[in-house]
Amino acid sequence: ASLSQIRNFSIIAHIDHGKSTLADRLIQQTGGLTAREMSEQVLDNMDIEKERGITIKSQTVRLDYTASDGKVYVLNLMDTPGHVDFAYEVSRSLAACEGALLVVDAAQGVEAQTLANVYQSIEHDHIIVPVINKVDLPAAEPERVKAQIEDVIGISTDDAVMTSAKTGLGIGDVLEAIVKFIPPPKGDFDAPLKAMLVDSWYDPYLGVVILVRVIDGKLVKGQEIMMMAAGTKHLVDRVGVFRPKIEVIDALGPGEIGFITAQIKEVAQTNVGDTITDAKKPTAHALPGFKEVQPVVFCGLFPVDAAEFEKLRDSLGRLRLNDASFSFETESSAALGFGFRCGFLGLLHLEIIQERLTREYDLDLITTAPSVVYKMLLRDGREIELHNPSDMPDPSTIELIEEPWIEATIFTPDEYLGSILKLCQDRRGIQKNLTYVGGRAQITYELPLNEVVFDFYDRLKSISRGYASFDYHQIGHREGDLVKMSIMVNAEPVDALSMIVHRGAAEARGRHMCERMKDLIPRHLFKIPIQAAIGGKVIARETIAAMRKDVTAKCYGGDISRKKKLLDKQKEGKKRMRQYGSVDIPQEAFIAALRMG
Ligand code: GTP
Repeated sequence: ASLSQIRNFSIIAHIDHGKSTLADRLIQQTGGLTAREMSEQVLDNMDIEKERGITIKSQTVRLDYTASDGKVYVLNLMDTPGHVDFAYEVSRSLAACEGALLVVDAAQGVEAQTLANVYQSIEHDHIIVPVINKVDLPAAEPERVKAQIEDVIGISTDDAVMTSAKTGLGIGDVLEAIVKFIPPPKGDFDAPLKAMLVDSWYDPYLGVVILVRVIDGKLVKGQEIMMMAAGTKHLVDRVGVFRPKIEVIDALGPGEIGFITAQIKEVAQTNVGDTITDAKKPTAHALPGFKEVQPVVFCGLFPVDAAEFEKLRDSLGRLRLNDASFSFETESSAALGFGFRCGFLGLLHLEIIQERLTREYDLDLITTAPSVVYKMLLRDGREIELHNPSDMPDPSTIELIEEPWIEATIFTPDEYLGSILKLCQDRRGIQKNLTYVGGRAQITYELPLNEVVFDFYDRLKSISRGYASFDYHQIGHREGDLVKMSIMVNAEPVDALSMIVHRGAAEARGRHMCERMKDLIPRHLFKIPIQAAIGGKVIARETIAAMRKDVTAKCYGGDISRKKKLLDKQKEGKKRMRQYGSVDIPQEAFIAALRMG
């Protein structure tokens, strides 16, 4: 395609504002199969196709659109994930485009994730076309939302398009606006190949599939390419595009987005942001590239059934084939046995992986409390990073501890403002900004990430009945008065329950943990103290009273079958117990205690 007839754009939106529905409409109107139709079709036809994951993972759709000027344009729509954990994925998709559609729900207005994504888009010098969606809703207030976009984001809404992705209203206007306002890509057909590696994923049939944006030159089958940062060479064996169905084509030229395969076996061999060039005629300058993503939240994953350890290892390995952004290494715990210490981009990422392990791999897992990465300067001058609270060195050897901080943006209806401010204060937040925009407050807070991984998001949602939206980015490490708190059952520390907390919050957190464990651990024949301690100092304590000798006593003798049932149940329970010192702690106690952090 000639450069002047290519448009590369992404859609940015807050969750639920209608991004997928709009994308489906654009595909439908230009003649492709929509994602929904595809998945239905796929379901009808064969499961293999679906398992290939191409449609799910395919981030780009190429549309042919005949505009009102009579010319046929190639529109490349790049998908961007909406959640904060995947901000880096958003960034690399945006880097491959010249513009973006900013979809805002006409009834909801601007939300936190709208803002975060729009700023990234502006950083990439995008032309942004506002799309006010859901104008069919009775509660829609398009004019108010337009004013809000101008106020909050500071972009003009003169060319904003009004749509209802649901009824199909305004979809033609969106297509025209893309052609009219989003600039065509620049590039040189005759220069040596220079392409950006936007994404890659593993496909069981094709091997590793690489999504590319060509800047200069062209990519063809049979070409020997070089990944400039990795320094590796590969032979291109397939060049294609998604419509959204896979279509193999001869070549990709400047400004185009598509995929290649090159007999690569593992996603880990491809670096997102790397520059792909011609091995024989390389480009002189590589692209600036992306910073490598580092996991920021760690937790332990342990199989409930110790025999499933190898299966867990295998499953983690498979998931990693498609997601090089999470890490895992073996970990052993006295309480939980053998498992893995895993690193994630954020809490949602953690949940997704955990969910997939449970659902797709049928594993029964225990997850320890999520922890952030602490940096420590030791008295002997060494600097270490801590991924696991159990590895905390003796406090007397530590000079200082630093913890990661974030800057959070929260949007909320006025009435919840007070409780949200309190929540942020309670979590050691520092207020940076507070403004009102049309009945909603926009709050900016600096917060320790440690306080956010601990149920912050859930609290925020429940305080605001789901109306507040939240987004954050990291702003570096800062020194903090942090201590390791251990939980001791019958005077023995339970490693899986130890956590790093701010000294000021330790007592409350410790008391909470003790109360919880008290409810979760069944009575024994003896009294069991449960204590929270920092170093040797006990800061909270609960006691589980000793139990009456005969469990079946409450059956009043008569009913034999009931008595037997009770004993069977006890036996069953026994299997799932972990012996701790002389105390049996049921697996469920750990799970429940760890669930809430
Ligand atoms: P995520 O995929 O979760 O990020 O959401 P999304 O932004 O892609 O939103 P999606 O397209 O899934 O739409 C969210 C909900 O809004 C769905 O129930 C849609 O049917 C509905 N919806 C989308 N567009 C419109 C619209 O124009 N009018 C109305 N009334 N509902 C819409």
